[in-house]
Amino acid sequence: MEESCILHKTTYEELSIEEQELLDKAHEAALVAFAPYSDFRVGAAARLSNGKIVIGSNQENIAYPSGLCGERVAMFTAGAQFPNEYVVALATVSPSQIADSHGFTPCGSCRQVVLESELRQSKPIKMLFQVRDEHVLISDSAQNLMPFSFRVKDDGLKRNRS
Ligand code: THU
Repeated sequence: MEESCILHKTTYEELSIEEQELLDKAHEAALVAFAPYSDFRVGAAARLSNGKIVIGSNQENIAYPSGLCGERVAMFTAGAQFPNEYVVALATVSPSQIADSHGFTPCGSCRQVVLESELRQSKPIKMLFQVRDEHVLISDSAQNLMPFSFRVKDDGLKRNRS
């Protein structure tokens, strides 16, 4: 059995206007991240099927596990505010000096969350990543980013069972 993950490396200038706008919004979101404990700021921006952009940033808490990553703040906000739209693309950035441009892709929990949205909507979510103003990495889907992900039959969604 073999599954692979492919990331495309590109530059901000080579992106479409819509993708540049999405990255810009993610950078704006990172400016208001609440990350006093890690000093690692994350901004995320999701473009929805109605064209709207929903933003998120990491929100930390003194009870450390109670905090939430920027990607999930954006994805859950999109789900809560626009339950009938699907997510077309998600940009995630970090302006922080400690961010590693080769290693900044979402954590496993965020991948799982984006993947479930992708499976529910049956449309790929394009994912873009950037550290500071460096190169941009692109995953064509959440599934690409999470080979051998956790699944159950019918994705385990009760609503699919008759
Ligand atoms: N963080 C994110 O927001 N997204 C990720 O994909 C990985 C980590 C946040 C969580 C925490 O607030 C800080 O970055 C350091 O781990």
